[in-house]
Amino acid sequence: MRLTDDERAMLDGAEGEAVAAAMDLLVRYGEVLGAERLVDTDNVCGANLFGSRHSLVCGSPTPDAAFSEHSLDAPTVLTIPPVKAQSYQLIGPMDTEHWQVQGLPQAEHDEIMASERYNAEHGIHLLNTCTPYQVGNVPLKGEHCAWMESSAVVYVNSVLGARTNVEGRESTGAAMLTGKIPYWGLHLDGNRHGTHLVEVGVPVTSNRDWGLLGYWIGEQVPEEAIPVVDGITATPDLVRLKHFGAAAASSGGVEMYHVPGITAEARTVEEALAGRAPQVRLRYGAAERQEAYEHLNATATDTDVDLVMIGCPHATLGQIRDVVRLLEGRRVHDGTELWVFTPRALRHVAEQNGYAQALADAGALLMSDTCPAIGQFLPNGTRVVATDSAKQVHYLPAIMGVQGLFGTLAECVDAAVTGTWRGDAP
Ligand code: F3S
Repeated sequence: MRLTDDERAMLDGAEGEAVAAAMDLLVRYGEVLGAERLVDTDNVCGANLFGSRHSLVCGSPTPDAAFSEHSLDAPTVLTIPPVKAQSYQLIGPMDTEHWQVQGLPQAEHDEIMASERYNAEHGIHLLNTCTPYQVGNVPLKGEHCAWMESSAVVYVNSVLGARTNVEGRESTGAAMLTGKIPYWGLHLDGNRHGTHLVEVGVPVTSNRDWGLLGYWIGEQVPEEAIPVVDGITATPDLVRLKHFGAAAASSGGVEMYHVPGITAEARTVEEALAGRAPQVRLRYGAAERQEAYEHLNATATDTDVDLVMIGCPHATLGQIRDVVRLLEGRRVHDGTELWVFTPRALRHVAEQNGYAQALADAGALLMSDTCPAIGQFLPNGTRVVATDSAKQVHYLPAIMGVQGLFGTLAECVDAAVTGTWRGDAP
């Protein structure tokens, strides 16, 4: 790999041993990937909140030890300097306000809070969400980023036209300290063109429609594919593309897609495909939509719902408002929980707007910073979870051994107030 003078100096220790270890990691990682060089980045989203599970692994309770081991894969404990690149904490394991609802012990809470203070002291911005693009980190078209979190990566590549591969905790940790990331994959112009053409023959308008389409596409295409979605007749919004990308990145490994005329890098199908013929043509109609719906609901045999989860990826203010409106004059059923997840910053706005109180008055709970799949928590005794998120219903049965039900927001809120799933296929 070719290194610039400043990169070589970092590797040789001019900025200390932690930066040298970070640069060493990036060089080894880049060489394995076949990258010829690094690229500057000033936009890094990683995950560096550590609790007791991580401290036990690294055998030392200090935050420097946890960062060295888990964020830099270093064999020794390094003194970690403030970050060089603009850096952001993604979603983490704990809601700092509702950690007791999660069932976390005090010691775990204290450890994660200490880790959070450490991140802040090192200059990592505490967005604590899987949707940084909702709360101030909106990269520009062409901006080179280093982001973890598949649903966020597919959003910024496709909708915003920023550039990132799906990075890991170690590569983002190293990028935070150096402001560099290997220049490969989706950083390169030639790797951002469409490969698979999806011809959509049914209306795709609602959040559920977009989740189903994304889930089906993710199941059909290989990891390196860039789908081009043709036949969309109604312009989607942030929420619909958030659901679409998250679904495609969970049933498969989609990191980028084009919806010509809507997403950032293609006005037409021809432009999306760079004038080439698609490698594969796929057709999405009513039968394919039904297939996706059945896959998403395949784990459910019961209709008694214990938990309704909204906010995967983290809910917008509009989604929170919609839940509040659907709950108006109704209360969450005894024995059922309704949890809504949003970024920390939006929770504060939702509090000011009265949404958090309205949810609480109806027996629901507004949470932030985490989610059941990442934090691995559910209400005690939960057997059946309903959600409007294809991603959450894909992961929760596998991670937590529960049954999952997928449907519209209205069906989910109905399940929360009746305790019973009455959702229908589209
Ligand atoms: Fe975010 Fe958790 Fe879903 S990380 S995308 S709310 S699984």
